[in-house]
Amino acid sequence: MKILLVGNGGREHAIADTLLRENTTLELIAAPGNPGLASLARVVPIPSSESDNIVSFAADEQVNLVIVGPEAPLADGLVDRLRLRGIPAFGPTYEAAQIETSKHVAKSLMERAGVPTARSETHLTAAGAHAAVNERFAAPVVIKASGLAAGKGVIVCHTDAEAHAAIDRIMGDKAFGAAGDECLVEAFMQGEELSLFAMTDGTDVLTMLPAQDHKRLLNGDDGPNTGGMGAYTPVSLGTPALLEDVTERILLPTLHALRKRGTPFTGLLYAGLMLTEEGPQVVEFNCRFGDPETQAILPMLTSSLLDPMLAIARGAKINNMSPLTWRAGASVTTVVAAANYPETPRTGDVIRLPDDTDTRRVFHAGTRRAENGELVSSGGRVVAVTGLGDTFEAARMISREGAEAVELADKQYRSDIGWREHERQA
Ligand code: GLY
Repeated sequence: MKILLVGNGGREHAIADTLLRENTTLELIAAPGNPGLASLARVVPIPSSESDNIVSFAADEQVNLVIVGPEAPLADGLVDRLRLRGIPAFGPTYEAAQIETSKHVAKSLMERAGVPTARSETHLTAAGAHAAVNERFAAPVVIKASGLAAGKGVIVCHTDAEAHAAIDRIMGDKAFGAAGDECLVEAFMQGEELSLFAMTDGTDVLTMLPAQDHKRLLNGDDGPNTGGMGAYTPVSLGTPALLEDVTERILLPTLHALRKRGTPFTGLLYAGLMLTEEGPQVVEFNCRFGDPETQAILPMLTSSLLDPMLAIARGAKINNMSPLTWRAGASVTTVVAAANYPETPRTGDVIRLPDDTDTRRVFHAGTRRAENGELVSSGGRVVAVTGLGDTFEAARMISREGAEAVELADKQYRSDIGWREHERQA
């Protein structure tokens, strides 16, 4: 079985690691991959933005499956192009991916399907958005660029002045480019966030363990927003009853609405939830595996990842598949980031990594091989260290000690990943 994995982050490294743990005879190819993936897969230097080259390569190599990791190639219609060539691809089509790539589309779908989410308005002009803040959405309020903005287009505003400044940044300064052509003004939701991933054939779902991300750079959820500084799973708030409720009232109706729209969603649906006093509500949907949650979740998987991925990519149904199974205990992932992340991450610093062990995985993200063969940093989030333990506290310690052991000048990492769970368990 030959599989092409598109992407170059810690998420893709974790997917490759999981597939090979399941079946060591798989032939993996990663485009463009990273040095961590290079130890598991043949890496080919095709950027994930070059959809046409990826399709030609997949056809020439006669791969049996393409797994698309990041959202950008999905937004570019890579899966549509692969399917036109008859190549099985795991991921949604361009139109189905709009559940992530257009917050306006996502909100409209949710409203039509009666899926619980915060009240919002979409505006095409800054004047309209300013009026919404003045007249209908008193602070705290959330201002969102509708399009893809690399996780940065969501601004939580504690005062009306902050909200007006956010609108000007998104729509006036175009701080996130065309992603800010449309702007959402959304009521603020209070609660704890939870990430729930589901593999889906468009109708049925196989849900994964719930996880919690840590978006802020610094301990105590302080500092600027990032792509995610760490995650853990399972989350004790994500009880079986809660997951059942989310499946029945959020995942399945959303998939139904997407089918009704004529754009069935297949692949991995990521529900970003807020656990409010009124119950779980959707913060956002993503059309792919989350990062860094994937690096925490997938090492816990004991059933097959490949079987559902392949079935879904081939257009088969998953309603007769058994639920996914998981090892006991917990998993905690700590991201090690470069100096000056998230503003202008410094690159080119030499990295030395602790080895993988039975209970520790080091996933590469912003790394590359220098000409002299040394491993150097090449991006903001450099590696993610996952600790697996029989208990949450054991996993947390393994992850934290692993992050400490990463040698990288002026590295940044949070030593409090999972602090909410820690407090709950205490
Ligand atoms: N963990 C956030 C994301 O993947 O978008």
